[in-house]
Amino acid sequence: MTAMSSRHRRYARLSGDEFRARLPEALSLYVAAMNYPPGTAEQRAPMWLTHVLRDGWRCVAALDSDDALVGLAYGYRGSQGQWWHEQVRRGLVERAGEQAAERWLADYFELTEIHVRPDRQGRGTGEDLLRRLVEDVGQRHVLLSTPEGTSRAWKLYRRLGFLDVLRDYHFAGDPRPFAILGRTLPLE
Ligand SMILES: CC(C)(COP(=O)(O)OP(=O)(O)OC[C@H]1O[C@@H](n2cnc3c(N)ncnc32)[C@H](O)[C@@H]1OP(=O)(O)O)[C@@H](O)C(=O)NCCC(=O)NCCS
Repeated sequence: MTAMSSRHRRYARLSGDEFRARLPEALSLYVAAMNYPPGTAEQRAPMWLTHVLRDGWRCVAALDSDDALVGLAYGYRGSQGQWWHEQVRRGLVERAGEQAAERWLADYFELTEIHVRPDRQGRGTGEDLLRRLVEDVGQRHVLLSTPEGTSRAWKLYRRLGFLDVLRDYHFAGDPRPFAILGRTLPLE
């Protein structure tokens, strides 16, 4: 675990093994932050474990003084064949053409998950996590998807300069409209 200290909590880069060991804790934080039903954690577990194995996977954790997880962000290098990549590519090609798809998708880091425990939100942890996660990733862009609507996450992404890549987009099998947001790296 590589430690980084800031404000009143500690940040640490988690290895794959450390992430796996903290998986139940990470999933319960996710369920609390997203206000999802508890069963969601079990459904997500296999997918999160698969993500760890992807090229360029990295994870930053925010930990309190008792070493409990108060925030988490992870992502990996996007590439052809990944479900999310192909879904976003389909939308971009349809709406903006091959060139736009190529420009965004040729070399990007997918910010897959970012969550802060509800009682610890609004103190800069989300911004710290995001900045640390994408620091020196080496890809040209960072992309993410988020449900349409107003939320604290939206304000964070806008504050950090994320632009619209696709709006009101429907991923296969999900009735909710999503926005795909992105920006060039590095963050200032
Ligand atoms: C989105 C999320 C990760 C952001 O984390 P966060 O820790 O709340 O984010 P920040 O603290 O960096 O920013 C939130 C607010 O705190 C404010 N803030 C930052 N540092 C602060 C400080 N030291 N003191 C007071 N306020 C502060 C920010 O200005 C920001 O205000 P705003 O929301 O009015 O713009 C978190 O809110 C979350 O987990 N939400 C639910 C899950 C979710 O939506 N995840 C993303 C799915 S796509």
